[in-house]
Amino acid sequence: MIFLKGDKIMCGIVGYIGRRDCSDVLMDGLEKLEYRGYDSAGIAVFENGEIKTVKTRGKLKAMTEKLARDGKPQGFCGIGHTRWATHGEPSDVNSHPHSNGRVTIVHNGIIENYAQLKEFLTEKGYEFKSQTDSEVVACLLDYYYAERNPLRAIMETVRELHGSFALGILFKDFPERVYAVRKGSPLIVGVGDNEYFIASDIPAFLKYTKKYIILDDDEILCMDTNGIEFFDVHGITIKKEIQTAEWDVEQAQKCGYPHYMLKEIHEQPTVVRKTLDMLVKDGVPVFDEIGLTDKMLRGVSRVFVVACGTAMHAGIIARYAIEKLARVPVTVEVASEFRYMEPIVGENDLVIVVSQSGETADTKAGLELAKSRGAKTLAIVNVKYSAIAREADMCIHTPAGPEIAVASTKAYSVQVAALYLIAFRFAFARGIILEDELKRLTEQLYRSPEAIENVLKNKDECQFIASQLVNVETLFFIGRGFDYALSLEASLKLKEITYIHSEAYAAGELKHGTISLIEDNVPVITVATQQNVLPKTISNMEEVKARGAKIIAICRKGTEFAEDTVDLRLDIDADMDDILVPLPTVCALQLIAYYTSVLRGIDPDKPRNLAKSVTTE
Ligand code: M6R
Repeated sequence: MIFLKGDKIMCGIVGYIGRRDCSDVLMDGLEKLEYRGYDSAGIAVFENGEIKTVKTRGKLKAMTEKLARDGKPQGFCGIGHTRWATHGEPSDVNSHPHSNGRVTIVHNGIIENYAQLKEFLTEKGYEFKSQTDSEVVACLLDYYYAERNPLRAIMETVRELHGSFALGILFKDFPERVYAVRKGSPLIVGVGDNEYFIASDIPAFLKYTKKYIILDDDEILCMDTNGIEFFDVHGITIKKEIQTAEWDVEQAQKCGYPHYMLKEIHEQPTVVRKTLDMLVKDGVPVFDEIGLTDKMLRGVSRVFVVACGTAMHAGIIARYAIEKLARVPVTVEVASEFRYMEPIVGENDLVIVVSQSGETADTKAGLELAKSRGAKTLAIVNVKYSAIAREADMCIHTPAGPEIAVASTKAYSVQVAALYLIAFRFAFARGIILEDELKRLTEQLYRSPEAIENVLKNKDECQFIASQLVNVETLFFIGRGFDYALSLEASLKLKEITYIHSEAYAAGELKHGTISLIEDNVPVITVATQQNVLPKTISNMEEVKARGAKIIAICRKGTEFAEDTVDLRLDIDADMDDILVPLPTVCALQLIAYYTSVLRGIDPDKPRNLAKSVTTE
């Protein structure tokens, strides 16, 4: 299997220096980063002044077995890696760490000019063992290590690299010391009590310390038993601020749930309420603190929402809500399109970028483009220390806590909750609704945690629907308006974790072609919560029913259908305005996807071919 440049990639990096058993710390950290997706793993540890490397294709279980068989490296300083193959198949030799004797590295990202560098290094006499782009970095570091000055070697090397990288580096001549550098791929430094960590994400060291420092692009870290030092690309020492993670260890664990995804689905009432509490003051949403004032909202002539995947689907809900309530045109753009389409966007526009990870390469590029055109930019981001959170003019940090499962659930719900509040404030700022209505809408939204809880209480019904889907080959989701936005998200969720082919259609669009795919017993899950279009949606249900479809209706409690239209129904028990019902409804759709995945024997937390966030194009 060959993975090409441009595939999803999100390897995991860990590194440690301290007094604990380094192999254990590295393996533990790698386990916490498993959610990122990987196909091989490895560690390198200083053992009596020598670097001992153990690596293998396969999951961490294979690593644990290999360590038990070959002997665990004994030491206090080292680096580790989970690899998501891009250049070269998953194999022992392609696994990280890579070494050429004097320099050992782990790498997350893609070196775009690796072929040219490889040619250059081959001419200089270097030989390559693997097919990876990463090994080139190890050799280039060695090439620039002529003066045996690690910092200089790193500075010279990063100047030559095109693409994205986070690197953990060991120099054989400097035992008990770890170097790191990054550009475009995340790397966090954990600051403990006389011990230090590097990791692609905080959960990898959360058990040891909550204190962390963000390594920024083009910054170099050196950590050893004496402490940590940071340098810029010219070798000048820089000062960095220590921050404290708000997450605790429990939040980053399964806490008795069989999967992170189920745990995260169940966290939704709490995190949605937290989001509302964070953004609502005296019964109304207020965004002045982040700079999103009524004056600014009044001056906005168009809104763009730029995002990918599930975050983009949250944007589609926002589009319906903002246009309906505030009467401002909203365009939702897939970030990978937006960045290259030469969008007509300027200073009177508000560009909202939505991202759980805050590291998604296309979304980040969309943000940079919008900024360069003078647009006002607002990020809605779950990971506080992320690049997007730091680059946007204004930022709402959603308080969902760590989302570990690859399939996004609670992050979507908090994004939607925040976007509703923006829609309400927008409408108020523009004089379309008065304060009474602003308060009423906000109070209505405060009902959503309870409505989500009602869905969770009835999860058996979602499980039953899942049991009806477990063996199907294809299915459709249809809906209108907000229900169409939900259908898109439900279809993505189901595809991601069940591998069942599904499509989402605006209910009225099916008859313009796709209806030809409907035949006996093809399930059509109809999201039908919006009363203003309900008669139309029912007509669309009947059209497909007449062609043999099996109709599963997701509707509000009390909705009436003509006899025989619906084969199965799931009622959403929510005492709130229709436009806000997507919050409890999405929970039911997430549960259906989750249970279908489990019934099909798939691990919903780690679906094939997917990574938690996508830091390359
Ligand atoms: O971290 P982001 O929210 O920017 O990620 C965007 C998408 O990659 C992400 O939502 C993806 O679609 C999820 N796997 C969906 O469950």
